[in-house]
Amino acid sequence: MATARICVLLVVVLSATLAEDFKLKHKPSTEAVRLFTEEELRRHDGSAEGHPIYMAVKGVVFDVTKGKEFYGRGAPYNALAGKDATRAVAKMSLDPADLTADPTGLTEEQLESLDRVFEETYKRKYPIVGYTAARVLSDDGRPNAAFRPEDQPQFQIKDEF
Ligand code: HEM
Repeated sequence: MATARICVLLVVVLSATLAEDFKLKHKPSTEAVRLFTEEELRRHDGSAEGHPIYMAVKGVVFDVTKGKEFYGRGAPYNALAGKDATRAVAKMSLDPADLTADPTGLTEEQLESLDRVFEETYKRKYPIVGYTAARVLSDDGRPNAAFRPEDQPQFQIKDEF
């Protein structure tokens, strides 16, 4: 009887933990998201005290303010802030040449690592506040029909350009 009670308790605790985990990973944002130009993103590079810090990975802009011990002014990964640092994250490199969104020539291993960090660090830990214009728009400035927002089923692109 006691064993059965412990089992029931274990199942309840386990399901609650798994449900919490699932909620965290798949919780769609209810906040409105925006489109960021490179210049707008640059304004959130951690240099202004008390101002939100943003960075993008794979064209998704995250609010990384709560990680300011990583991304704030003088912090070790401050170079990644205020820009789309996809290449640097994929290569785990802070070389200035890698501080770009350009994935050209990344190896399979680097692309896998990028996806892992994107899912397990950025999407889990930080709220999505928008997308880079380069991810959402085609070269002629029109909305890219192939764009699929992350966890943003309500996201609509208005053709204001
Ligand atoms: C000596 C080399 C390095 C060491 C010892 C190191 C160590 C660490 C540690 C301890 C964490 C924190 C893990 C946690 O608490 O969640 C971390 C996170 C991280 N590291 Fe490094 N790191 C190194 C180099 C790099 C480089 C070169 C990059 C370049 C992109 C990088 C990118 C990151 C990122 C993006 C995170 C996640 C930060 C977050 O949670 O927002 N690391 N690193």
